[in-house]
Amino acid sequence: MQDFDHIYPRVDTDSVKWDSIKTTYGKDDLVPLWVADMDFMAPAPVIDALSDYTKRGLFGYSLVPDALYQAIFDWEKTHYDYSLEKEDILFSPGVVPSIGVAIQAYTQPGDSILIHDPVYHPFANMVKANERNLVTSPLGIEDGHFVMDLTDMEAKIKNNQVKMLILCNPHNPGGRVWTKAELIACGLLCQQYGVLVVSDEIHQDLVFAPHQHHSFHTLAPDFADFSIILTAATKTFNLAAVKLSMVYIKNKELRAAFQKVQSTTEQNTINTFGYVATQAAYEKGEPWRQDLLTYLAENSRYTEAFFKEHLPQVKVMAPEGTYLMWLDFRAYDLSPKALEDKLVQEAGVVLNNGAIFGNGGRGFMRLNLACPRETLAEGLERIRKIFG
Ligand SMILES: Cc1ncc(COP(=O)(O)O)c(C=O)c1O
Repeated sequence: MQDFDHIYPRVDTDSVKWDSIKTTYGKDDLVPLWVADMDFMAPAPVIDALSDYTKRGLFGYSLVPDALYQAIFDWEKTHYDYSLEKEDILFSPGVVPSIGVAIQAYTQPGDSILIHDPVYHPFANMVKANERNLVTSPLGIEDGHFVMDLTDMEAKIKNNQVKMLILCNPHNPGGRVWTKAELIACGLLCQQYGVLVVSDEIHQDLVFAPHQHHSFHTLAPDFADFSIILTAATKTFNLAAVKLSMVYIKNKELRAAFQKVQSTTEQNTINTFGYVATQAAYEKGEPWRQDLLTYLAENSRYTEAFFKEHLPQVKVMAPEGTYLMWLDFRAYDLSPKALEDKLVQEAGVVLNNGAIFGNGGRGFMRLNLACPRETLAEGLERIRKIFG
């Protein structure tokens, strides 16, 4: 079993999480609990597969191995009862690049695209960068968890003639694992108004029992007609650097339109290291993932208990999935900038400012739990000293 308590030095490794702190904040003695990657070593079978490939020293153009397709079929079927065929699967260098392709393939400049607020900030960035009209629907908070406001969504869809919903399933930054009933209700609404759903499922494998991820395509037989799924092994197995994601499209016309945009820039031929790593992760990474989930769940409980005991003014949204925790600092009545400054300059901890995820994130911060407990404990202790 991997020792998730082990601290690997990441400073001076060109890590965004660790090495951009100095340029961003002018300090290098900060505890980084921000950028969504993990301070853990990748699964040993993935490292072995990449080493074997590297040692061969032959880096010519490569085909997509049949074994990779098989690994994807098996993974999706075993965990989510989701059946895929080879033709349903396209590859892309990332989920965010795929969002850009989907926007260009299925909408025109000026068209309205709906996202939730708050939500993973590149959704809004991609909509705006592609000169589409950004429409947001605020998430409510019930029993300490985010919920969709279907009445608001319907009004926004009707009033703005929304063409596309970009859905975060499970939800970043709230760690919400939408239930089957919630997803079906959302899907039926989109179906009724002809809204195409782009379901970002990159956090699908990071879900804590008893919660269960549901791929949008498995909710009803005809949901695949008006939706596409974006996912990857990179978030689950800490492989962001290999830049490979999958796009699952069952509707032939939607697939052809996506491929047409991809082909304009040859974005469909991908880094072979991505193929190798993804195949190994899906074939042999499951024991590592189970251990990871146990460790993350314990980090989540530890953090929740810490805030309850030492800083009850900070309200914690305990994640049902993802390794991200949404913290409500509104009791301190600070502007987003003042809150971030206090955390960085006084406490010495870097979290993601909630305001980047939308207006609903003002006064909140997102904490990344995927680090050794000692690092987490140090970060929390620093927050307690300043906010306690
Ligand atoms: C919801 C969500 N989508 C996409 C990504 C990034 O995906 P990629 O690196 O494949 O572009 C992240 C990374 O944190 C994420 O949280």
